[in-house]
Amino acid sequence: MSTQTDQQRRILADMGIDVWLLRDKAGKTVNLPAVDPSNDALSALSSLQNEVQSCQRCGLSQSRTQTVFGSGNANADLLLIGEAPGAEEDRQGLPFVGKAGKLLDAMLFAIGFTREQVYICNVLKCRPPNNRDPQSNEVESCAPFLNAQIEIINPKVILALGRFAAHRLLLTEAPVYKMRETINVLPATDIPVVVTYHPASLLRNPMQKAQCWDDLCKVHQLLEKADS
Ligand code: URA
Repeated sequence: MSTQTDQQRRILADMGIDVWLLRDKAGKTVNLPAVDPSNDALSALSSLQNEVQSCQRCGLSQSRTQTVFGSGNANADLLLIGEAPGAEEDRQGLPFVGKAGKLLDAMLFAIGFTREQVYICNVLKCRPPNNRDPQSNEVESCAPFLNAQIEIINPKVILALGRFAAHRLLLTEAPVYKMRETINVLPATDIPVVVTYHPASLLRNPMQKAQCWDDLCKVHQLLEKADS
């Protein structure tokens, strides 16, 4: 078996998960998708990003270093949505580049993806000061940008990372453990939304990692189903 398989096994073991491998992805060489500059989704995302960069819809525009729009493949089958940029993301202008992001990379790798193959963004495009929770007016102000990202990327599956993403997408206040019990669907679409714990929560509560692994397996199965 390839080195990648061993590496995936090690990552899962580090996540505190007893390892078995996904049948199809295990050991498969990862081919990065070619980026076509004339790609419609790419140019639509880049116009939207320009709009976000100058956004002043809420008070977070006053305290941000820069906006954090999102990154990855504009034609991704899998879209991951987190909460809001933290200090490192605000500094670099990219989502999930801090500690939680490293864990997210490992989680993605474990199901056979690199972050360049998926698309990653947040509910909020600006960092809330002192990493406080997003406020509802901020979520509302930013919602049109998130909705537009979803529409442009048109993913086959969405993975909601944590309660803020899940609540925004599914328009509910249900707790994460409840939303994990079922495959949810993005309202007014047929896009399945898998809800899991936020990577930062996994860092604080390693017991949640096994459940998160179950959720990643759900994502993998849904993607396979969508391809068949
Ligand atoms: N937490 C998030 O929800 N998003 C990031 O980009 C970083 C940390």
